Amino acid sequence: MKKILITGGAGFIGSNFIHYIFEKEKDIFIINLDKLTYAGNLENLKGIEQNYSGKYKFIHGDIYNKELVEYIFAEYNSDAVINFAAESHVDRSILDSNIFIETNVLGSATLLNVAKKFWKEEDWEKKRFLQISTDEVYGTLPENDKSIKFTEETPLKPHSPYSASKASADCIVQSFYDTYEFPTLITRCSNNYGPYQFPEKLIPLIINNALNDKKLPVYGDGKNIRDWLYVEDHCNAIWAVLQKGKIGEVYNIGGNNEIQNIEIVKRILDYLGEPHSLITYVKDRLGHDRRYAIDATKIKNELGWKPKFTFEEKIKDTIDWYLKNPKWINNVISGEYQRYYEKMYKNI
Ligand code: NAD
Ligand code: TYD
Repeated sequence: MKKILITGGAGFIGSNFIHYIFEKEKDIFIINLDKLTYAGNLENLKGIEQNYSGKYKFIHGDIYNKELVEYIFAEYNSDAVINFAAESHVDRSILDSNIFIETNVLGSATLLNVAKKFWKEEDWEKKRFLQISTDEVYGTLPENDKSIKFTEETPLKPHSPYSASKASADCIVQSFYDTYEFPTLITRCSNNYGPYQFPEKLIPLIINNALNDKKLPVYGDGKNIRDWLYVEDHCNAIWAVLQKGKIGEVYNIGGNNEIQNIEIVKRILDYLGEPHSLITYVKDRLGHDRRYAIDATKIKNELGWKPKFTFEEKIKDTIDWYLKNPKWINNVISGEYQRYYEKMYKNI
């Protein structure tokens, strides 16, 4: 049985990955290490403990806690690590970047060092350390030349404290391959959307506000471009990289689906039958990257991955998911999120 240590498995992408992998693979054991920050929610994993008892272990803790991570490696001797755990929101990193450095940089380095210490060198051929990264490490692209996209060769030029912390972690992970030939892999995906996404991010924030007739904060002129991918397509790509990726390599993941923010907001309003008058342009995000776009040629050609879903289809399913899960939203927006929202959007 394959044993995988997943970190951040109670967050948006990590929890989708755990659902995805249990549905797909019979012979698998998952250890999920999660600190349960404001973004971690065990509700996202409803049914997992019951349906997969004997194949799943949840551990509440921090990837930056060396003793705990060492205990987990000694106890479980996993075949692979998939490091999803992170502070993931750009706006929060602008408000305060400290925890981003702790978790994203030092936490990732802790995991990596412990993996190197506990995995015997003769076993490295079969082991994998997969760092889940982001296209934001590449910085920003010109908006008028659509022929230019991020490739794996694009130099790292992160702008936000969030993307800088992710780029730092990528460099450390890559250095372990370059220096020791430690079996690392890095994936860099574009913006995800789908069920269980915390409503600080654009799509669930707009859905939730529109449903409550609240103003919809659109930064700057609303024409910033993101390249959206449905979360299950991301999960599928991660699994392909873990199974077939060449160690020491980076794989970009994206669905060739560039959309301006304002277009997304309008599509959500139209689907919900809510008025465009809710749209409220607000002061731009500091250092706001203008355009992201992924060239996913490498993962397509080398690993045969391509997205299964279209944005047109899955944005509707995503909105429907939020409509069907008001209890989930109400739970996550109470408490910490309320305070964050009031601080962040006090001027609208
Ligand atoms: P998220 O914020 O929804 O979830 C993060 C999870 O990590 C939470 O469960 C949280 O409790 C946990 N966590 C945070 N700090 C921790 C720590 N120190 N130790 C253990 N657990 C900790 O994030 P997400 O959107 O699911 O993103 C997951 C990963 O994918 C991140 O590494 C992010 O950089 C990357 N990524 C995200 C996107 C996106 O669009 N959301 C796109 C590309 C890459
Ligand atoms: P976000 O979901 O925070 O993802 P990222 O910054 O990692 O790309 O934001 C997506 C885009 O939406 C980004 O250009 C910022 C913009 N945005 C708004 O216009 N208003 C908002 O309230 C939020 C959260 C984001």
